[in-house]
Amino acid sequence: MTTFPHAPGFVAGERPQIVTERFQYEDSYTLERYRATGGYEGLRKALQQPSSAVHEEVKSATILGRGGAGFPAGTKWGLTPQGVWPRYLVVNGDESEPGTYKDRLLMERDPHQLIEGCLIACYAAGLSQCFLYIRGEMALAQERVAAALNEAYAAGLVGRNVMGSSFSVDVVLHWGAGAYVVGEETALIESLEGNRGMPRLKPPYFPAAIGLYGKPTIVNNVETLSNLPWLMRNGSAAYTAIGTKTSPGTRMVAVSGHVKRPGVYEIVNGTTTFRDLLYGEEFCKGIRNGNALKAFVPGGGSAPWFTADQLDLPFEASQVGPAGSMLGSGAVMVMDETTDIPAAALTLTNFYAHESCGKCTPCREGGTWLQRILTRVVNGDGTTEDLAQLVEVGSMICPGNFPHASSERLGLAAVPFPYKMTTICFVGPSAYAPVHSALTLFPEEFAARVKHRRTIPVTAVGAPA
Ligand SMILES: Cc1cc2nc3c(=O)[nH]c(=O)nc-3n(C[C@H](O)[C@H](O)[C@H](O)COP(=O)(O)O)c2cc1C
Ligand code: SF4
Repeated sequence: MTTFPHAPGFVAGERPQIVTERFQYEDSYTLERYRATGGYEGLRKALQQPSSAVHEEVKSATILGRGGAGFPAGTKWGLTPQGVWPRYLVVNGDESEPGTYKDRLLMERDPHQLIEGCLIACYAAGLSQCFLYIRGEMALAQERVAAALNEAYAAGLVGRNVMGSSFSVDVVLHWGAGAYVVGEETALIESLEGNRGMPRLKPPYFPAAIGLYGKPTIVNNVETLSNLPWLMRNGSAAYTAIGTKTSPGTRMVAVSGHVKRPGVYEIVNGTTTFRDLLYGEEFCKGIRNGNALKAFVPGGGSAPWFTADQLDLPFEASQVGPAGSMLGSGAVMVMDETTDIPAAALTLTNFYAHESCGKCTPCREGGTWLQRILTRVVNGDGTTEDLAQLVEVGSMICPGNFPHASSERLGLAAVPFPYKMTTICFVGPSAYAPVHSALTLFPEEFAARVKHRRTIPVTAVGAPA
């Protein structure tokens, strides 16, 4: 097993590696290293076939989108209307979901892999221009992707007549300004167009039909596209031989929190369980200080929490969804027995309330209400009525899903995912998801908080502070 100082936290073992195999090289981001390790051979192979054959290959691999929703890439590419031109590829590199830091590593460590993936996607889906949107704060990723793109243009790999073929495509880089909601695909498109990054209504604004500049647009995640070079080199049969039928291949998972070895791991999809990941010697090696696991967030800050009795669930959407959560953005956050649960929920709710774009009332007002009430509870100023009010506000954002806070601890599948919601996008429910999880899984911690309210500190001279 090797650890890589240039990709902090990244650990490789004997497992199949589709998107991280080059991370072991210090110069993994250069064109020289990329070409020496099979780089751009997938594109060459693709260009020797009709674009429809490449599209079919991607379809039969069933690459599930890695941005959160898990929609198969090949199927999505087929949703664009016939005969409407131009059509675009937008690469979602906004990665801002709490706990998620895998796309950043892919852009920093293997930018050519992403560029090659973009070119294969454009060729297969008939997309004439690619817009690569990278989160504002990711300075090194921006630098590496820009340098790689310059190298690729100079080598005739991007631009007019790619590799001497009749296929031409340009890639435009765009730096975001650091808004979480811009990761939502329609908000990202608004931002690219120079507008405030606010989500559009779906329908009618499904990007594949009406996207960037009103034209058909495919939005794909960085990791999704980074799978394509390997897939074209090795074929869909090799790809689907890894993982399960419904979740083939591998996926990158960023683990943070109270494990002995947090980091990004490329795991086998569908078969690896949360127990393997958190306790396995090749992964996180267990909980810090030998402590007990209290809870974990399985798929980024928006995902409802799981507890130790759900450790044996695999990374398989068809099992994690009915169990009440999602694999989402591929981020697992671990809380050990020392965690102050109401405070942990507040940390996440603060984030989503702050990131609300304000377009819909339940999110704009509800997020702030949740934040204020929960702050009161965490600070020791809350009441039992406050707990009931948290649930009431939550049910305005996600109606019909939630039992009262004082209900007994939920059974594992009590709240199916995804939630119903009154908001345009998932930021609204995301502000409530941690509150809901914390309240239903650990009601005793909230009850104690409101029972033993803050004792008034006494000053040195004996007067109340
Ligand atoms: C609030 C919100 C934030 C999102 N942030 C991201 C993100 O940072 N990166 C990403 O790829 N997808 C993000 N998504 C999902 C995108 O809307 C979209 O589904 C995804 O980029 C499609 O790519 P994929 O099919 O390859 O997964 C977000 C969705 C929502 C609702
Ligand atoms: S849910 Fe929140 S972030 Fe999403 S569109 Fe509505 S106000 Fe904006």
